[in-house]
Amino acid sequence: MATPSQKLIVGNWKMNGQLQNANTLITAVGDYVRSHKSPCSIVICPPFTLLTSLSGPCRNYEFGLGAQDCHEKPCGAFTGDISAPMLKEAGCRYVVVGHSERRQYHQESDTIIRAKAEAAIAEGLTPIICIGETESEYNHGKTLETIEQQLNACLPLSPNLILAYEPVWAIGSGKTPSLEEIRQVHQFIDKILRKAFEKPVRILYGGSAKPQNAKEILAIPHVDGLLVGGASLEAQCFTAIIEAASAYSGLLNQASS
Ligand code: PGA
Repeated sequence: MATPSQKLIVGNWKMNGQLQNANTLITAVGDYVRSHKSPCSIVICPPFTLLTSLSGPCRNYEFGLGAQDCHEKPCGAFTGDISAPMLKEAGCRYVVVGHSERRQYHQESDTIIRAKAEAAIAEGLTPIICIGETESEYNHGKTLETIEQQLNACLPLSPNLILAYEPVWAIGSGKTPSLEEIRQVHQFIDKILRKAFEKPVRILYGGSAKPQNAKEILAIPHVDGLLVGGASLEAQCFTAIIEAASAYSGLLNQASS
C-alpha cells in the first residue's frame, strides 16, 4: 500500500477503542477515503484486542494494520506480552516500537527497542521506530544530540523500517516545534539514515499533529507522513489530515520503505 509517491498517515489509537466505536471509526474513515479516492497511504494501530477484528475492514479499505508494541522474543514465559509472530498472525504489517509512552511507563531502553525492531523485521513486519527529545533536552538545546544518540542505539541492521520523530513534549500537549525546527531535525535524521542505509527510509513527524497544522508540516522536506495520536480517534479530524496529505501525492522526498 505505501507507494513511494504517497505520504503515509499512521493513526496511533493508544489505549482507546472498543469494537463498536472502532468499527464505526474505520468505516467512516474508509468510506471517506474511498469516495474521495485519497492518494495517501494509511496505517491504523489499534490496541491489541482489536487487531484481529479490524484486520478484515483494514484489508477491505486498503489500510495497513499495525500494533503499538511487540516483545523482542518470539514466544516464552513473558506474561502479558505479545510477540511479532502473533502480530503477523493477527494481520499486522506494522508495529510501533519505542514510543515515548513505552519508554516512560515501561522503562524501555534503546537496546530493547532495537531488539524489538529486529524481532519485527525478522517476522516481515515494518517497525515504526519512535525517537524524540524530552522538554528539558529541548530547552537545553540538546535535541539533535539526543536524536543522534537514540538513532545510534535503536537502529536495526536492516533498512526495512519507518522512523518517527516525536518530540516527547509535543505529544498530546497541543504544542509543536516550529516548522523550521521540524525541518532541521528531519534533515538531520535523513542524513544519518542515508549514511546508515543504502535504501531510503520514510520519516514521519508525530506530536500534536492535527488538521490545522498537517498541511504545513507535511510540506517540510523529509517529512514523509504523520504519526497521529489524539486526532486519529475522530473521523472528521483524521480524514481532514488525510485530505491534507493527499494534496502532496507524488511530491515525496523519500521512497517508501
Ligand atoms: P498526539 O500523539 O498526536 O496525540 O500528540 C502522537 C503519538 O503519541 O504518537
